[in-house]
Amino acid sequence: MKSIFTMTLFALSISQMAFAETPDKALLMMCSACHALSENDQAGIGPSLADIGGKAVASESEYSYSKALRKLSFTWDRPTLAAWIYASEQMAPGTAMRHHNSLTEDEVNRLTELLIPDPH
Ligand code: HEC
Repeated sequence: MKSIFTMTLFALSISQMAFAETPDKALLMMCSACHALSENDQAGIGPSLADIGGKAVASESEYSYSKALRKLSFTWDRPTLAAWIYASEQMAPGTAMRHHNSLTEDEVNRLTELLIPDPH
């Protein structure tokens, strides 16, 4: 009896370990499909999001942004990034980022923490 109990606990902790890791990766994959997320990533069809926190909007010199995005002026932080993830087309009508997701508020918050680990 006791060993079954121990094995169940063991199985539970393994599945929890797996759960603790998959969501972050899965979240980041929603963006890495189109964006480089670090300096070493290959460029995607969107601008690089490496060190996006504190960067001015539409400021990657080698990326050709839409007019819609070039019209904006602010620096990216967690709140603006979250707003962008929720509704990029409202922030920049006509943006080339056509991206729809069904992320929960918690998931969006987690994603902005992953992309801006150290807010300025
Ligand atoms: C289908 C491709 C695609 C996906 C998926 C996507 N993006 Fe984008 N993203 C783009 C494109 C294209 C642009 C450039 C938009 C423009 O020029 O109007 C962009 C622009 C951006 C910008 C502006 C960057 C800057 O330099 O100012 C941010 C921030 C951004 N995306 C974040 C995200 C995040 C976070 C995710 C994941 C939740 C995501 N994107 C998913 C294509 C995508």
